Amino acid sequence: QWLEWEATDLQPHFFGLLLDLNVIQSILINLCFVLCVQPALLQALHMAVLHGKGSEVSKVLQGPLNYLEQSLSKGNTPYLTGVQHQHLATALPIFHCPFSERTSVKAWFDRGAVLHSCESAAQKVLQGKGLQGMKSYMQRQPAPQSSQSRDTQPCNSNPAEIKPQICLFPISLPHEGKRNLLVTSALPYVNNVPHLGNIIGCVLSADVFSRYGRLRGWNLLFVCGTDEYGTATENKAREEGLTPQQICDKYHAIHSSIYKWFQIDFDFFGRTTTEKQTEIAQDIFWRIHKHGFLIEDTVEQLRCEKCQRFLADRFVEGICPHCSYPEARGDQCDKCGRLINAVELREPQCKVCRQTPVVRSSKHLFLDLPKLEPQLEQWLEKSTSTGDWTANAKQITRSWLRDGLKPRCITRDLRWGTPVPHPDFKEKVFYVWFDAPIGYLSITANYTDKWEKWWKNPHQVELYNFMAKDNVPFHSVVFPCSLLGAQDNYTLVSHLIATEYLNYEDTKFSKSRGVGVFGDMAKDTGIPSDVWRFYLLYVRPEGQDSAFSWADMALKNNSELLNNLGNFINRAGMFVTKFFEGCVPAMELQQEDKKLLALVGWELQQYIQLMDKVKIRDALRHILNISRHGNQYIQVNEPWKKIKGGDTERQRAGTVTGVSVNIACLLSVMLLPYMPTVSQTIRDQLNAPQSCVNTMLQGTGTFVCSLSAGHRIGTVSPLFQKLEVDQIEALKKRFGGQQVFDVYDA
Ligand code: MF3
Ligand code: ZN
Repeated sequence: QWLEWEATDLQPHFFGLLLDLNVIQSILINLCFVLCVQPALLQALHMAVLHGKGSEVSKVLQGPLNYLEQSLSKGNTPYLTGVQHQHLATALPIFHCPFSERTSVKAWFDRGAVLHSCESAAQKVLQGKGLQGMKSYMQRQPAPQSSQSRDTQPCNSNPAEIKPQICLFPISLPHEGKRNLLVTSALPYVNNVPHLGNIIGCVLSADVFSRYGRLRGWNLLFVCGTDEYGTATENKAREEGLTPQQICDKYHAIHSSIYKWFQIDFDFFGRTTTEKQTEIAQDIFWRIHKHGFLIEDTVEQLRCEKCQRFLADRFVEGICPHCSYPEARGDQCDKCGRLINAVELREPQCKVCRQTPVVRSSKHLFLDLPKLEPQLEQWLEKSTSTGDWTANAKQITRSWLRDGLKPRCITRDLRWGTPVPHPDFKEKVFYVWFDAPIGYLSITANYTDKWEKWWKNPHQVELYNFMAKDNVPFHSVVFPCSLLGAQDNYTLVSHLIATEYLNYEDTKFSKSRGVGVFGDMAKDTGIPSDVWRFYLLYVRPEGQDSAFSWADMALKNNSELLNNLGNFINRAGMFVTKFFEGCVPAMELQQEDKKLLALVGWELQQYIQLMDKVKIRDALRHILNISRHGNQYIQVNEPWKKIKGGDTERQRAGTVTGVSVNIACLLSVMLLPYMPTVSQTIRDQLNAPQSCVNTMLQGTGTFVCSLSAGHRIGTVSPLFQKLEVDQIEALKKRFGGQQVFDVYDA
């Protein structure tokens, strides 16, 4: 009976719902129940939320609510059916605060909300991130099937095609009067498993910054996806006996699951092999063509007769014509960083069969970089002076321009790529480095039809590009030139964030074999995702190369996480539990406490200033400084002794405990971008109010006391585990501590 009521009476009303933004947040907190349970209602809510206006809510729901209220007040069971039936939980979200005058419904809701199944659903869905968590969760869900989605935006118009994540829920678009940030991380090559170097270089860094940006209240869209075209994919397909499409599907899924494990919180993780890609790349091409920035030329190309194909740049190796580095690739030299035309390589070799390729000529199209150079320089000057470009990004770009720009070939004699639409170049595809960055746009277009609000809106949108330094020239010179040449008011990069290289153990990174720790292995170590994140961010190659080291990871885990951060937070919570029956004691601040809070405020300010400038590794140090100050403060004040003393002493123990536990709460928020799960765990343990994540909205770095006297905290338990020497030794062996690995080897 109830199920029928839900389907016929309650649900239709949802379609007419107009929700107010203010209520959305609170409704969302409860919405999770729906998600695990009732896809049809989920769809209704999608629509309701997307319509976004307020006043009608209670009017529309009055009938169903009254009915429910009546039934509940008559009945003598705590739940509608005597036991909490999962489907009935779908009704829960609507009864939160706006409807609480219906006491039976409210009581019913409250009973439901504390059920373990509901709590864990909430935890699973929201991951403590409120609206943001909700959004990410919904993106991972299959699309509701209804055809009534006028304002919702299915990601992929052709469902028979590959299935990137579906996103129907609050589509993020730029807002007037807000800081609108479009964040990208370099699109990882689909054909191999990303390793730690890839992960820290782009997706993890961009994730931390995005999470931070959301704490700051910025309107932010974070997109990424797999870079799927090119010969590397064709080769892999041949190797594995699959079609290129199958390879892409397979590895796209591998990438997704690795990033999911690392808790990389994309708004959308797409791919480059979509119809939108073809559409947008060809449009950009025709525009560049129309404006006269293409040159036709016959080129000499390397062809391997043994492999029976033209060799993509990455599949030729030889001696760099500029610096004589013996292992230069056909597109770029890893030693001197210069771009190379493959035919210029001395002693070229086919990377697959090691034969010497022959030179063949063929007609190609070139992007006229020299003609675009004045425009580029003008834009660069503005972007690099007003935006946050890392020093290496500026320097690499400068040296590129100093060398003078040459026309760059944008077509290739390959199959697996975006087709060149020009009739004279029918058999060709776009060169991946012309095509791939357009992936940022097409991936956004697969996320929302209104993608141009992000990508053709340079005055409202700030674009952040995250990458490793070998990607810089393509993002600072070549791609901007494509967009400038297309003359369609594109959003160009404002902030170019490039990392240096991460080495593995004490070995210099080299060209060889891709041996080392890969994304899919990290989870087999038993070391939690958050600890991996912490360590990679701690050694983030920011400003200079750095190295991953097993021993150092253990050391940092044991000293910084366990003894410093974890110890402080755990002690603060334990004092509240043990000495004050779980309630935050009253605080009477003395000079010493004020001094500490000022110090904490200063560290927080530093953190904000650094994070605003994307100094992710440096900002992390200030979190650890705070817990160090905190530990010292506890050590000096000895609340465990004072609690046994007279009234003043006990009062003092209370203040020290109250101050400490509030600092612990602040730390949980500062940690959120780095260690999202630990951050949530701390907030759960402290039973912290949701509002504590608003600490950084103003960006002033003022310390706010989130847990006032009388606040009841939850159950406190240790946050971190010691990494033992033998455990680390075993891991080091297992994952090849002796081996070389090249973080940038495709
Ligand atoms: N796949 C390239 C790499 O891993 C990066 C492509 S970034 C893009 O180095 F912008 F071109 F997509
Ligand atoms: Zn060189």
